[in-house]
Amino acid sequence: MLDLLVRNAHLPDGRTGMSIAVQDGRITEVTPGLVAPARQTVDAQAQLVSPHFVDPHFHMDATLSYGQPRVNESGTLLEGIALWGELKPLLKAEALIERAMNYCDWAVAKGMLAVRSHVDTSDTSLLAVDALLEVKRRVAPYLDLQLVAFPQDGVLRSPGGVDNLRRALDKGVDVVGGIPHFERTMADGAASVRLLCELAAERGLRVDMHCDESDDPLSRHIETLASECQRLGLHGRTTGSHCTSMHSMDNYYVSKLLPLIAESGVAVVANPLINITLQGRHDSYPKRRGMTRVPELLAAGVNVAFGHDCVMDPWYGMGSGDMLEVAHMGLHVAQMTSQSGIRQCFEAVTTRAAAVFGLERYGLAAGCDASFVLLQASDPVEAIRLRATRLKVFRKGVLIAETPPATAQLHLAGRPRDNDWRLTV
Ligand code: FE2
Repeated sequence: MLDLLVRNAHLPDGRTGMSIAVQDGRITEVTPGLVAPARQTVDAQAQLVSPHFVDPHFHMDATLSYGQPRVNESGTLLEGIALWGELKPLLKAEALIERAMNYCDWAVAKGMLAVRSHVDTSDTSLLAVDALLEVKRRVAPYLDLQLVAFPQDGVLRSPGGVDNLRRALDKGVDVVGGIPHFERTMADGAASVRLLCELAAERGLRVDMHCDESDDPLSRHIETLASECQRLGLHGRTTGSHCTSMHSMDNYYVSKLLPLIAESGVAVVANPLINITLQGRHDSYPKRRGMTRVPELLAAGVNVAFGHDCVMDPWYGMGSGDMLEVAHMGLHVAQMTSQSGIRQCFEAVTTRAAAVFGLERYGLAAGCDASFVLLQASDPVEAIRLRATRLKVFRKGVLIAETPPATAQLHLAGRPRDNDWRLTV
């Protein structure tokens, strides 16, 4: 007898009437119309079942701290960094853990079961590192939390930056981060990329750097990151996050840059909600959107995923842990409004994000973990349009979250149906 059978499901690839059989936490079969005895049977009623959402770029040490100790008045990246600097000395481990745990609850409710979070390593106490390692342990039964050692104040610029980052990795942080555009000079930025990539190669770790998060077209650290990735054989395990300067770069230079990124196997993570909020702040009009060149990167063969980046923190006062909201903003900012473009945006918060993360057994196929979401939508396009309700969330075959369908009850005289009909909203 199966543990779980989901019947009559639509899948993101367009297949309909599909059954998903689950045994011991894994998918054993995905096939049309399968009927078999199971301890639990779910009729998907021709709604979409998707692999769970993945956030490939977040800051869990800062989340849900909005207003502490004040809000970001200018809305710029730099005031956000300064504000985080004011908050850091006030951080208490238990309060940080509680905020992060609350956010993980939000994530699970929205069907997001894997988060790559940067954690600031600039402070010698490594308080945030210890706190998020504890959160990682606590949420492990229901959420994969991957941590990136992120030297927010610049690994070369801040005293003890390299040593603090090494110590964070020693404690068990998974990925090497960086912030080359925040170092004092372009030369220091490039040197930081080389140093951090060498550190990752030496330890066999993945790399994910905040790279060129500015509107400066001459911020070209992504070039160094790609070439270091090639030199050190870090193909397939290196990510450039943000890369917003590419929005403003000269087209000829980009035509040379894109093949280098593609050949190096560097993935790019755009953060649509944050990029459209923080970039272009020094412009009058027209104001640049600032997000990196998503369709062009995809066309060049680069894996591009979308991250949430921030929720209610010094940089961004909005957000709810909803990767469909991220995809929704992404398709608007990148003008990816074709059917295939919208589907690519759905992939950017599911399969493409999972590839950045390096998640194993991810997907809807025999052998994958049975970690998936039943949505109140018939396909990925409708899911993004409605930011569809996550009706049921399964983790390794176990139901871990449910939300009732979103409906509005209308009271309109003269409509053909009676006063009691409900509308999906
Ligand atoms: Fe970030």
